Amino acid sequence: MQDTPGTVAVLATGGTIAGTAASATDNIGYSAAQLGVQALVDAVPALAGVPLVTEQVAQLDSKDMDFAVWATLAARVAHQLAQPGITGVVITHGTDTLEETAYVLQRLLAPAKPVVLAAAMRPATALLRDGPQNLLDAVTLAREPGARGVMAVLAGTVHSALDVRKVHSYRVDAFGSGDAGPLARIEEGRVRRLREWPAGEPLGLDCIAKGEWPWVELVTSHAGARPDGVRALVAAGVKGLVVAGTGNGSLHHALEAALIEAQAAGVTVWRTTRCLDGPVQATPADQLPSAGTLTPVQARIELMLQLMRT
Ligand code: SIN
Repeated sequence: MQDTPGTVAVLATGGTIAGTAASATDNIGYSAAQLGVQALVDAVPALAGVPLVTEQVAQLDSKDMDFAVWATLAARVAHQLAQPGITGVVITHGTDTLEETAYVLQRLLAPAKPVVLAAAMRPATALLRDGPQNLLDAVTLAREPGARGVMAVLAGTVHSALDVRKVHSYRVDAFGSGDAGPLARIEEGRVRRLREWPAGEPLGLDCIAKGEWPWVELVTSHAGARPDGVRALVAAGVKGLVVAGTGNGSLHHALEAALIEAQAAGVTVWRTTRCLDGPVQATPADQLPSAGTLTPVQARIELMLQLMRT
């Protein structure tokens, strides 16, 4: 099948899209990652005539995503993209860490073909399940002529891997693209593109070949912040710290002092903002560098990748 032009590889990793509950009205008391990839595909009659290859890469609730699964997934995506008949890849995934997987895949692979993450906010047993439509839309996008880069599609909206973030804990339309806005809409099986496909230089899989991801933690600035947590992390051997500051990356003075100490001790420290949208704009007076437009979780991944490369 991989030789049939226009084939899409569907790689499954689990999530609510593959989740089941005892009752069709239970949207939160379900178990994620129960159904296999073939069951997900079979639930979408419109996919019956579409050439697909399927692969179960993992089966987990994405809150438990880890570096080993990322490495396996990145390798399988790269393998599928290298097949001449494969036009694009769809990855079924949980919503909770979708933005992290999307970002790491874009930075490692920056693919010239589309790689589309599909997820769902309702389990496969729900009365109003969103998984089948999201999967169909993802396959549509994976077959769109000229499309490239890592993206996510939920509720008819396409987000770039460089911008996507989960913005709601329950709503079906739970994702946003921050200041950048959505990349495209999918309407009645057609892609209406609003801006350029995600692009960039791939870091390549060699970047993660050693398998040791450096220890980088996230900390948050807030009222009454204390320095003790940062000092304990430095004493325990942390290699990098990403701080989610207030507003334009400002920090409580007690936390800032500990972070400056950490930096002096050789720990890489980056500032981001805990605001939902907007960058941290650097100034010449900054003692701790800004991570620019990266969200805290994106900055943590970027810092791990950079530390691995050096
Ligand atoms: C998960 O992230 O795997 C569970 C939650 C979800 O997919 O919405």
